Amino acid sequence: MTFTIDGKQVLAALDRYLEESRQAKKPVIHQETIETIHRQLDLAAIFREGGLSGSRLDRFLSAYLDNTTRLHHPGYLAHQVGNPQPLAALGSFIDGVTNNAMAIYEMGPAAAAIEFFMVNQLLDRVGWPHMPFDTKQRLTVDHGAGVLTHGGSLANMTALMTARNHLDPALRENGCTSDLVLLAPDSCHYSVTKTAGILGMGEKNVVLLPTDRLGRVLPDRAERTISQTLKAGRRIVALIANACATGTGLFDPIDRLADICRKHSIWFHVDGAHGGSLLFSKKYRHLLAGLEKADSLILDAHKMLQTPTVCAALLVKHAATLDHAFQHDAGYLFHEKYQPGFDFISQTVECTKAGLGLRFFLAFAAQGEAGMAEYIDTCIDLTCSAQKYIASQPDFDVPYTPESNILCFRHSASETDQLAIRDRLIQKGNFYLSSTSINDQRFLRMVIISPATTLDDIKALVHAIRQAAETG
Ligand SMILES: Cc1ncc(COP(=O)(O)O)c(C=O)c1O
Repeated sequence: MTFTIDGKQVLAALDRYLEESRQAKKPVIHQETIETIHRQLDLAAIFREGGLSGSRLDRFLSAYLDNTTRLHHPGYLAHQVGNPQPLAALGSFIDGVTNNAMAIYEMGPAAAAIEFFMVNQLLDRVGWPHMPFDTKQRLTVDHGAGVLTHGGSLANMTALMTARNHLDPALRENGCTSDLVLLAPDSCHYSVTKTAGILGMGEKNVVLLPTDRLGRVLPDRAERTISQTLKAGRRIVALIANACATGTGLFDPIDRLADICRKHSIWFHVDGAHGGSLLFSKKYRHLLAGLEKADSLILDAHKMLQTPTVCAALLVKHAATLDHAFQHDAGYLFHEKYQPGFDFISQTVECTKAGLGLRFFLAFAAQGEAGMAEYIDTCIDLTCSAQKYIASQPDFDVPYTPESNILCFRHSASETDQLAIRDRLIQKGNFYLSSTSINDQRFLRMVIISPATTLDDIKALVHAIRQAAETG
């Protein structure tokens, strides 16, 4: 009963919140100090006394929501954090209430079956054979496989660990030897370098692939790097390509790199944390051409697939490689049993694992595949229009044509530092941009991800940037 009453209150507050955000009635970003927020939320008293409900719950929610960053706001143009479908958010809620830790099937058959379904949908889009319902065939029939993880960093780590154990199965037990390297462009996500450290290969053993001035891998020169690396007696665990790069949103030449990796029998990993979502695009799927020739892929559903944070997927072309990546003993989990389903536990770093498939599935259930494709294509189309508009302004500099919903640009006429401009915009609260550097030059960076954003907002942003640059 209390649960239903509290729930209604929460939903009503969230409904108002979404409307206020979409209509830009409150600032997109509003940052108080930690101390102030503690006070506004009355944390100490509530923690001590409990019983948060009724008008006190309303006050708490209102203070909480006023201190959020509003991803549904038209001026939200900062980071690649998804704009969840409300139905998908209810998926997170259902998962929170049922709390089925579904890594072993008996602990959450519905959640595990949905994860199985979503992984197969993704495998289908890549062009890799499904995981069969009869999981005994896992050992006898070659097919793809995958697992949902808590984020792209963990998915990258799992993929590269799979590649390492595939290269030399003894490494899992014995530890890394000093001859192991990863090949990746400097523009790769930092989770790749972090993985090299975590897996014991050493961060210094990420050999950088040659790139053009925008950080895209140059395939011919990459081949030379491979030959030199092999000649030096190093073993290449994997070559990693961006689809797309976090900073610029530009894609590496996947098809060419896949062929090169195949020629040299190198594991080819595609980091599609952001751009993997183009698997569902009608207009931009071609940017992933050649993906089926890769050995592994990751994508973040919580970026462009309107799924609440966090939900990422790791996919491999051959299920056996993932099966061999983890083989551990845990008497309370791994034993003979009646088993009508599939245990994801032996594919993942995690032991207690949330049912991430439900929120992911519900993002599609809200609008269907065509609706998802339209969302993705609209975001990218608008980014292309934004690029044309900004590039036509004499006081702005845009270094490339976008391939995704990420665009870097700078106010070139101003004496003011780009970061100072960003800070001033944030202080005002109408627009929230991120920033990155390309070739040691600082750029403003926009990610068009809120369906509320229009070209008029981009024009207003340009005006706001000029004002911010002037007010020193
Ligand atoms: C290309 C790329 N790879 C990996 C990641 C890491 O994903 P997550 O933040 O979900 O851990 C990101 C995040 O922005 C990314 O852009």
